[in-house]
Amino acid sequence: MQNLLITGGCGFIGANFIHYLFEEAGYNGQVVNVDSLTYAGNPESLGRIPESFKNRYHFIQADIGNTAKMTSIFDAFDIDAVCHFAAESHVDRSIAAPDAFVTTNVLGTFTLLEQARHHQNRLIRFHHISTDEVYGTLGKEGRFLETTPYDPSSPYSASKAASDHLVRAYHRTYGLPVTLSNCSNNYGPYQFPEKLIPLIILNAYNGKALPVYGDGQNVRDWLHVTDHCRAIWRIMNNGKNGATYNIGGRCEKTNLSVVETICDVLDRQVEPLPNGSRKELITFVTDRPGHDFRYAIDCTKIEKELGWLPRETFESGLEKTVAWYLENGNWVKRIQSGEYRNWIEQHYGG
Ligand code: NAD
Ligand code: TYD
Repeated sequence: MQNLLITGGCGFIGANFIHYLFEEAGYNGQVVNVDSLTYAGNPESLGRIPESFKNRYHFIQADIGNTAKMTSIFDAFDIDAVCHFAAESHVDRSIAAPDAFVTTNVLGTFTLLEQARHHQNRLIRFHHISTDEVYGTLGKEGRFLETTPYDPSSPYSASKAASDHLVRAYHRTYGLPVTLSNCSNNYGPYQFPEKLIPLIILNAYNGKALPVYGDGQNVRDWLHVTDHCRAIWRIMNNGKNGATYNIGGRCEKTNLSVVETICDVLDRQVEPLPNGSRKELITFVTDRPGHDFRYAIDCTKIEKELGWLPRETFESGLEKTVAWYLENGNWVKRIQSGEYRNWIEQHYGG
């Protein structure tokens, strides 16, 4: 994999993956980062990568659904591998406005697959990043296996399920060399502060209300984003052609306990608020419609076949993540004020 196309590399996981490739994995090929820069795309999340690796890192602002642009990128860079992150990713937005989810996640993935098929003679790997949410909800018992039937609840998870099916169909029908991974909830640096963990860190730090949906007893299985990146790279290099791998942290937490833990970490890392613990800020709000009760991943397959194990515990990962948001006030401020969009407009014309 010498000419790697990464889609969505200005988003949360994609940006972390590019940092990981250049700074930890020892990757020595070219990276072509294609991102349309939606609200969730922020080139500032790449830090110094564009300057430090200017001969090996290329950014192109483009929509994955644009056939002509995708063709020219595959040709110009002689793409031999794809790691596909680009997506609309937030469940609440998919409930309010599902259109973009179908356009990007389903049709955009289809456009990329078509390009991959037309350039199949030099393609070694098409890796598709997906979510455990395609499996729907669990009750109190059990875990998702790679063989668990799909049963998505939200427009987001339904669109990701559709894209997973297309990827598998391209493998079976056209012999495209694919791998897929379905991962649990990620947290870590550069996550857009609409998702639970960064939203709660920033609200709690600023003494704002901490919105908890319903009774806060819904369960998610948390994984530090760098552990996810390590798993993706291992699958891309050593995964079986056509295979799917579930990735998770064996780290189930109720939402309420996640919010309480963030309050405890912040109360320790910075001075407490004048009126006591930040837990006082917890506010139970109307539940999300169709809110999946519990996600939990059985990751035996990736552990046994590829020897992957998460390195961070929730405690170590959360300590680091809280510290990162406190130390990177400028990144946060520029997102919260909308200044990052002005920068994009100046450099890329909006
Ligand atoms: P994100 O919303 O932070 O980033 C998505 C990126 O894709 C942004 O940079 C955005 O500009 C770009 N993008 C969106 N539409 C595009 C289009 N049409 N063309 C080109 N670029 C486009 O998302 P994330 O949290 O980094 O998630 C990345 C992938 O991982 C997604 O496929 C998501 O389904 C999957 N995933 C996420 C999680 C999680 O906890 N965040 C868990 C499992 C799987
Ligand atoms: P989120 O980070 O949106 O990820 P996902 O919906 O993909 O799992 O939400 C994680 C959990 O936290 C989910 O059960 C919904 C809940 N939640 C809240 O309770 N309050 C919030 O403000 C948000 C954004 C999420």
